[in-house]
Amino acid sequence: METILVTGGTGYIGSHTVVQLLESNYNVVIVDNLSNSSKAVLQRVEQITGKMPTFYQADIRDEQALTDIFNKHKVSAVIHFAGLKAVGESSQIPLEYYEQNIYGTLVLCQVMAKSGCKRIVFSSSATVYGDPASVPITEQFPTSATNPYGRTKLFIEHMLSDLHQSDPEWHIVLLRYFNPIGAHPSGLIGEDPKGIPNNLLPFVTQVAVGKRTHLSIFGNDYSTKDGTGVRDYIHVVDLANAHLKATEKLERLTGLRKYNLGTGQGYSVLEIVMTFERVTDEKVPYEVTERRPGDIAECWADASLAKAELNWSAQLQLDDMLVDAWRWQSGNPDGYAS
Ligand code: NAD
Ligand code: WQD
Repeated sequence: METILVTGGTGYIGSHTVVQLLESNYNVVIVDNLSNSSKAVLQRVEQITGKMPTFYQADIRDEQALTDIFNKHKVSAVIHFAGLKAVGESSQIPLEYYEQNIYGTLVLCQVMAKSGCKRIVFSSSATVYGDPASVPITEQFPTSATNPYGRTKLFIEHMLSDLHQSDPEWHIVLLRYFNPIGAHPSGLIGEDPKGIPNNLLPFVTQVAVGKRTHLSIFGNDYSTKDGTGVRDYIHVVDLANAHLKATEKLERLTGLRKYNLGTGQGYSVLEIVMTFERVTDEKVPYEVTERRPGDIAECWADASLAKAELNWSAQLQLDDMLVDAWRWQSGNPDGYAS
């Protein structure tokens, strides 16, 4: 049985990926410092899969801790989710983002190299396309960054690319996620943001469950179908599945590969609100406010490369994403603290 080390494995996307790895009979070793997640995730994962992953509460910047873990386990590949991800916060505390994301990945790769494990799947983001000139976005589009968070993702992509150039034994897949939403259909694991959510979906579900009075829609004067921002929302279960396909691909890979992970379909903020109300029968009061600085009008993926090379495509629809997000939120109004 192969062992996969998952950094950030108790987080939102990590936990869903861990479930699928366990269900596919991988051994899973999680390294997470719990800065943005809860240990309660582990019991929930066990409830779903009947298996408990090995867990280390450790920081990816801690070289000694990582070295000990790699000495203890014969790791065949790493799926690397750990890092900070709040776009707005990254402008307030940029050094923290550079340290955790870039330095953290650097330490991880150094320890991997020393231990002889040279296979990694990295969580990148559609944010590396900056403000794209057109949609849909292919992997060939020029990259840029408009905030420190995005710059860390872009820099890590370059760092991994340099690493691969220097030593072709490194097998590397960069996954550029569009907008992950939804939750496991069991309602046992899901997104549990600390404080006020930055992202649309957790805000919508927190309004519906009564934790917040109303949603602010950030602008309705974009040149989009109804004036509100359009994004490519993807079910976290589909996203997690792409990590299994990418991990399999690592075995027969030559070269570094980059894949967009989206559905290829864009929905506006108003469409999200209306669809959520329809499928859940809950009300989401909203008001339209100013545009949020840094937001782009529209963004969706051309995900045909992942289909061609990973044999992966998103299977779940927007209705599924919203029903599952609501099952998680309504069953766990205070997330894992419920
Ligand atoms: P998350 O915050 O739920 O998960 C990240 C996990 O990493 C958390 O459990 C946190 O405790 C852990 N962590 C953070 N810094 C760490 C460190 N220094 N050492 C060890 N553990 C650490 O976030 P998520 O939504 O699951 O995102 C996972 C990855 O995907 C991140 O790299 C994020 O940038 C990327 N991503 C997320 C989105 C999104 O919208 N959720 C979109 C594109 C890319
Ligand atoms: C979606 C739409 C908002 C909240 C961010 C990061 C990106 C990636 C995914 C990590 C936009 C609107 C939102 C609200 C609103 N993360 N909105 N009211 O901005 O597309 O992407 O998360 O890599 O890098 O930038 O996602 O969910 O914040 O916003 O009207 O309270 O919802 O303006 O049109 P975004 P989001």
